[in-house]
Amino acid sequence: MNSGGGVWITLEGGDGSGKTTQSNLLAEWLEGAGRTVVRTREPGGSEVGQLIRDIVLHHRGDIAPRAEALLYAADRAHHVSTVVRPALERGEVVLQDRYLDSSVAYQGAGRVLDGDEIRDLSLWAAEGALPDLTVLLDLSPEAARVRLDSADKPFDRLEAEKNDFHARVRDGYLGLAAAEPERFLVLDAAAAPDVIAAQIRERVTALLG
Ligand code: TMP
Repeated sequence: MNSGGGVWITLEGGDGSGKTTQSNLLAEWLEGAGRTVVRTREPGGSEVGQLIRDIVLHHRGDIAPRAEALLYAADRAHHVSTVVRPALERGEVVLQDRYLDSSVAYQGAGRVLDGDEIRDLSLWAAEGALPDLTVLLDLSPEAARVRLDSADKPFDRLEAEKNDFHARVRDGYLGLAAAEPERFLVLDAAAAPDVIAAQIRERVTALLG
């Protein structure tokens, strides 16, 4: 979505795939190159979003799959309208942890809702906004589980899901990337962080022109 010269980059991948590390490295590099970077995330990139994040990640007990999908979509609608679009209009780089591909992968493939419906719901919520680049950090659920276990912090609702849920999420992501190869950069998240960072920088350099 190129409004006002801004560039919108999203990072996607399963829990434990290393998005935060890569986001930190990319932000540092972009700022070093003189770009203004807005770092944000879904769910929870706005004040309203923080409230929604608390529900979707920490509510004790079940949330009906369609309700969960709508909560993520509500977060997205408010976030794109109040944070993402304004930053892009100011010509800034928006570096965002997770976007609608997370919904298609987690609520669609993971919860077994219809992926096209989930995508349409998100596109409606965000008035059609799509990132200029989506970096998918691809990792097997087994390797991700080892990383999450060693992080030594309690699992949230999604992290606590079993490996077959996370395997469906991974397949969902790979299907999305195959359908939109121009938007996606798929990287092996098992590689060394500096190797991954260099691959991301190469693609972002091309994007920034
Ligand atoms: P994180 O911000 O720590 O990655 O946690 C967000 C969790 O929410 C993560 O497990 C993925 C999940 N999620 C969805 O299920 N659907 C979505 O649309 C988004 C944005 C996140």
